[in-house]
Amino acid sequence: MDIEITINDKKLITKTGLTILEAASQAGIKIPTLCYLKRLRPIGSCRICSVEVKGIEHPVPSCVAKVKEGYEIYTDTEKVWNVRKEALSHLLLDHPLDCPVCDKSGYCMLQDLSFEFGLTKQKNKKLYPDRTNIFKSEYIEYMATRCILCSRCIRVCTDMYGNSFYEIKGSGYDSYIGLTGEDKSIHGVKPSGSSFIAEKTESNILKCYYCGNCIEVCPVGALISKPSKFKERYWQESPFSSVCDKCSAACRIEYYRYAGEESLVRTESLFGGYLCRQGFFYEGIGKNNGYYISSPYIKKKSMPE
Ligand code: SF4
Ligand code: SF4
Ligand code: SF4
Ligand code: FES
Repeated sequence: MDIEITINDKKLITKTGLTILEAASQAGIKIPTLCYLKRLRPIGSCRICSVEVKGIEHPVPSCVAKVKEGYEIYTDTEKVWNVRKEALSHLLLDHPLDCPVCDKSGYCMLQDLSFEFGLTKQKNKKLYPDRTNIFKSEYIEYMATRCILCSRCIRVCTDMYGNSFYEIKGSGYDSYIGLTGEDKSIHGVKPSGSSFIAEKTESNILKCYYCGNCIEVCPVGALISKPSKFKERYWQESPFSSVCDKCSAACRIEYYRYAGEESLVRTESLFGGYLCRQGFFYEGIGKNNGYYISSPYIKKKSMPE
C-alpha cells in the first residue's frame, strides 16, 4: 500500500513494509550502515544507521524500523550524527591498531567509517582480554579482537544451512564468536533441502562446509582466509570476470591476481550470490596452470574448445 512520508522535509510516496533505510535508499538518500547487508535479514545491532523520527524520543535504527504513514524522518541532524559517532567509538574502544598488517585494510567498513567520522585516535587500550585460538580451522582464521559482533557471519551461515556453525559466546564487551555448541552436533538443512547433522566440533575445530561466505560478509578483518593471509591487497588490482570451472553451475566470479602471481587468486561472487568452497577458495584448474575462462566454451569430446 502506498503511504506518504517525509525524509529531510522532502515528501515521498513509499510502500508499507519497507524499512526507513530502504525507503531512503529508493529516494537516493544515503544513510551509513555497518551490520546491515542487503541480502541478510537485518538485526539493528550497530546503530550506525540511526535516524530521527518526529515524535519518537530516541533515534531509531533505520535498517529495522519500518516506515509508517505520515512519518517525518531526519537522517542528517546533529543528534543522529552524535548517536552514530558514539556507537562507532564504542566499537573502537579496544580495537587493535592493526590496520597496517590487517588483510582487510583498504576495504574495511570500520576503517572507512572511522575516517568518515574523524575517529582516528583510540581512547582506551587493552580494556578487555585478548581471545586467541577460539577455534581452529584449516581455511579460516578468527581474530576476536577485531570482531565487532555484527553477526553477519552467523546470519549468512544460517541462511546457507538453516543453522550456523557460529554463535555469540560470553556477554557484554567480553563477547566473541565461537563454535555453535562446541561439543554438540549441529542440525541444519542443506541448500538441496535435505537435513543434516554436522560432525561434533570437538577440540574447538571448525568442521563446516568451508563455503567462505562468512569471510566474504565480515565487514572487518576478523574472519580471514588462511590461504590468502598476508598475501593480498586485492583492491589494488583490477579484477577480471570469469566463471568458476568446478561444476556445471558455472557461478560468475571475479578473480584478482596480486603482484602478478597466479597462485594468489581471490574469488568474489558477482551479483551478491553465494559461492561454495571450491569457488571461494578457488580450487579450479586455473589455480595451477594460470588458465582462466573468460568467454564461453563448447565441450567437444573430452576437452573444452
Ligand atoms: S579490522 Fe579494519 S579497522 Fe580493524 S585493524 Fe583491520 S583494517 Fe583496521
Ligand atoms: S567475525 Fe566478522 S562477521 Fe562475524 S560478528 Fe565478528 S565482525 Fe561480524
Ligand atoms: S565457511 Fe560457510 S559453512 Fe563454514 S562457518 Fe563460514 S559460512 Fe558457515
Ligand atoms: S546498520 Fe542498522 S543497526 Fe547496524
